[in-house]
Amino acid sequence: MKLPSKFVLFLSFFVVACKKEKSPNLLLLAGLIPKPYVYEWNLPPGFPTPRVPVNNPITREKVELGRFLFYEKKLSGNNTMSCASCHLQELAFADGKVNPFGITGEFHARNAQALVNVAYNSRQTWVNILFVDLEQQAHGPLFGESPVELGLFITEPEIREKLKQDSIYLEMFKKAFPDSPEPITITNIIRAISSFQRTLISGNSPHDKYIYQGQKDAMSASAKRGFQFFNSEVAECFHCHDGVNFNDSTFHENTSAVIEPLYHNNGLYNIPVTGNPPNNLGLMEVTGNPNHRGGFKTPTLRNLLYTYPYMHDGSMSCDDDKNPLHPLGKANGATNETCARQALGRVLDHYARGGNHSTCVAYSTPGGTKNPSYPCLSNTPQANVDTTLIRAFPMSAQEREDLINFLLSLSDEEFTKDPRFSNPRP
Ligand code: HEC
Ligand code: HEC
Repeated sequence: MKLPSKFVLFLSFFVVACKKEKSPNLLLLAGLIPKPYVYEWNLPPGFPTPRVPVNNPITREKVELGRFLFYEKKLSGNNTMSCASCHLQELAFADGKVNPFGITGEFHARNAQALVNVAYNSRQTWVNILFVDLEQQAHGPLFGESPVELGLFITEPEIREKLKQDSIYLEMFKKAFPDSPEPITITNIIRAISSFQRTLISGNSPHDKYIYQGQKDAMSASAKRGFQFFNSEVAECFHCHDGVNFNDSTFHENTSAVIEPLYHNNGLYNIPVTGNPPNNLGLMEVTGNPNHRGGFKTPTLRNLLYTYPYMHDGSMSCDDDKNPLHPLGKANGATNETCARQALGRVLDHYARGGNHSTCVAYSTPGGTKNPSYPCLSNTPQANVDTTLIRAFPMSAQEREDLINFLLSLSDEEFTKDPRFSNPRP
């Protein structure tokens, strides 16, 4: 096609003018240089833009590939498990178990976290202060040996061969990593999975509708009262469960200060000498610092309707007959709500009695029965429990009910059904 010469003249003049002005916007307007790629986050109202590592900019192609890889069983040593085996969408990407196990059957010492708004976490996992981003964390489940999770103990060329058996991957990797001569690498696998995980954003709960979307009736009167109690200096919850994710380690694009990752001991255990069970000492396991004994990352309170059992060791749950994931509960017609309500009641009773030191009842199954392995010898709190925040407070039956209703109003059913997050090849 030949352009009319007047137009060409105008165009070249325009280009020169733009260059002189050093105005990339005008050049962009003229469609003469490619637009810098901007990822469309489609964030829920009120949500800040997540921070993304400079060496792994997020693109649609990476997210799509990452979704396939998140559900890909070839990424385990014996092709039986994927990330999704312990992170199930219908449970807000938790797994409903006390402790999950990997391909060898070895149990994990800690409960599988829900993957909810993980893009905003300043640190990943319950205690590993060294996992600053999702890319670092992903090495754990793929290649970790204690415990073994996916047990992918083969070389990069072998992994490449395995994935190439599936014809869709070569094309998808090329699209996601157009500049890599050999795009199927461990680094790129991890970059794609991390990009997908950054899109797992949940922000459409009744509470969000009330706070950010102006829907005054989205929360019940009881849940609204519970929100006030949550934010009161009586219950003290908001000091640690704060901000858009109801934790205290959220950061995002416009966070100016580096947010200190905060780990707390919320008084779950008070075992003499070790404080916590010896195989689960909290942040101290990573730092070696005894002041970090029993310190765990504050979890988000979003989607508690789906993420029981709670706490790092899954020690707060409901009775089996109220648990829809247990045969007894199934037979009883139990639902997520019957379990979450009872389990949350136990969490609240734990906080209201100021943690486990104050009554010295149940060391390993809080709210439950005494565990003979952890006899009650000490009635003083562990030195590193923050007793200004974790201390007994009065709570009426109505306040307890209101607080449970508030906590449940943070659950986002859409998130557990969003087709963008589901297994692309069920
Ligand atoms: C065998 C079960 C299992 C498998 C498989 C598994 N995870 Fe996990 N995941 C866990 C457990 C347990 C934790 C908590 C780890 C800890 O604190 O020690 C966790 C924590 C995480 C976290 C931290 C979330 C947060 O809020 O801090 C991320 C992210 C994560 N997993 C991503 C993945 C990815 C990606 C894969 C696949 C490559 C994967 N997981 C496979 C069990 C599993
Ligand atoms: C000092 C900080 C702190 C305060 C105050 C606090 N929490 Fe927590 N919360 C935590 C930490 C840390 C955990 C995880 C502890 C663990 O697993 O060992 C946690 C866990 C939870 C969990 C379990 C979530 C899950 O997914 O496992 C719930 C629910 C919860 N807190 C609700 C509350 C409520 C309600 C209050 C107020 C009554 C409150 N918290 C006060 C720090 C705090």
